[in-house]
Amino acid sequence: MRPIEIRPNIFWVGVNDRSTELFEGLWPILNQGVTYNAYLIKDEKNALIDLSKETFTDDFLEQLESLVGLENLDYVITNHMEPDHSGALLRLRECAPNAKFLGMGKAVAMMKDFYNIVDNVEVVKHEQTLSLGKNTLKFIFTPLVHWPETMMTYMVEEKIMFSCDAFGSYGCLDGFLFDDEANNHGYFEREALRYYTNIVAAYSKNVLQAIDKISAYPIDILAPSHGMVWRKEPERIISLYKKWATMATEPAEPGVTVLYGSMYRNTERALDFALQAISEAGVPLEVFNVAVTDPSFILPSLWTKRGLLVAAPTYERAMFPPMVHALDIAEIKGVRNKAAGYFGSYAWSGGAKAVFEEYASKLNWDVVGTLEFIGSAKQQDVQQIQALSRKIAERSK
Ligand SMILES: Cc1cc2nc3c(=O)[nH]c(=O)nc-3n(C[C@H](O)[C@H](O)[C@H](O)COP(=O)(O)O)c2cc1C
Ligand SMILES: [Fe+2]
Ligand SMILES: [Fe+2]
Repeated sequence: MRPIEIRPNIFWVGVNDRSTELFEGLWPILNQGVTYNAYLIKDEKNALIDLSKETFTDDFLEQLESLVGLENLDYVITNHMEPDHSGALLRLRECAPNAKFLGMGKAVAMMKDFYNIVDNVEVVKHEQTLSLGKNTLKFIFTPLVHWPETMMTYMVEEKIMFSCDAFGSYGCLDGFLFDDEANNHGYFEREALRYYTNIVAAYSKNVLQAIDKISAYPIDILAPSHGMVWRKEPERIISLYKKWATMATEPAEPGVTVLYGSMYRNTERALDFALQAISEAGVPLEVFNVAVTDPSFILPSLWTKRGLLVAAPTYERAMFPPMVHALDIAEIKGVRNKAAGYFGSYAWSGGAKAVFEEYASKLNWDVVGTLEFIGSAKQQDVQQIQALSRKIAERSK
């Protein structure tokens, strides 16, 4: 990549990652890619904000070298120590001996824990400022967005907020950097929501606190550490994040997510009756086969829709394992407050319904109905499935 000047003497020095299959070793991104955005400010003192994943260290250092020469780097500001941003730290430490590494107290501890870096490091405090010459930086502590050490860095004169993971998205920057250059906003909003639900959702309360904290600062440019840089409409992504964060505690949007899995189609055949009942109620509906769909792609619907129908058979006195995995991820990410129901087939003991009920109780789902039926669904089973589906739909309007 070549650096991109976002304002005079302020450069994006990020990396497009098109080769990582799983973000955090977990979330599929091979088709979308992801960026690690870092920023260089040239002033009387030169400062770097965030770095890149270790794999891309050479590309990353090359960009820096072309702009300042690494020995002329004065400050390295680590908003966040997760290795997607800090992976290049150790090499940079060797190549930039004059740079002081700055971060919140917990970030400095992590520099030692991850990379054994202890020299020439300095703890910064919430709202502390740092003069670079013409420009002033101000550090804003935003814990748990996304780790406990995470902060944002604000450029006072230029009104640029380097917001780190907050307001980020999956997706590579295919020849553009800014929101006003992008012609695929729908795609990026979907990928921002997937990123939000996969990465940030569990800390929604902290996201709202962070949004509240930064509301005191005028923002001309919002520069996150993943995805595009917002200079035309920074408030657009901020309001989306605010909406999504609010959904952690408030009822979400109208609609029902249907998760199903089936070995021999007994559960699947009954599914059609359920979908018809929900459709007839005129409620938006998204259907996922959990055995072939990664939870990464299910979470956006789970997060944003009020209703949830789980359809899965019993397996070894418990629930069909891919469904358990999907529900586990829902629990980890805090998918709460749903109008929910369950049905599924069994052959001798049953057991899936009890598993569903455990998740429902842990996640405060309002259970409108459950049904375990033996073998194939008989007429009265179908009627019950239709009735519980209609109820979910009514409650999800
Ligand atoms: C590997 C395996 C384990 C199962 N374990 C149980 C069980 O512990 N208890 C039970 O009632 N049924 C059990 N079943 C039976 C299924 O729940 C039953 O066949 C059901 O109709 C499958 O629904 P489906 O056609 O939607 O896949 C098991 C089936 C399989 C293949
Ligand atoms: Fe992170
Ligand atoms: Fe990140």
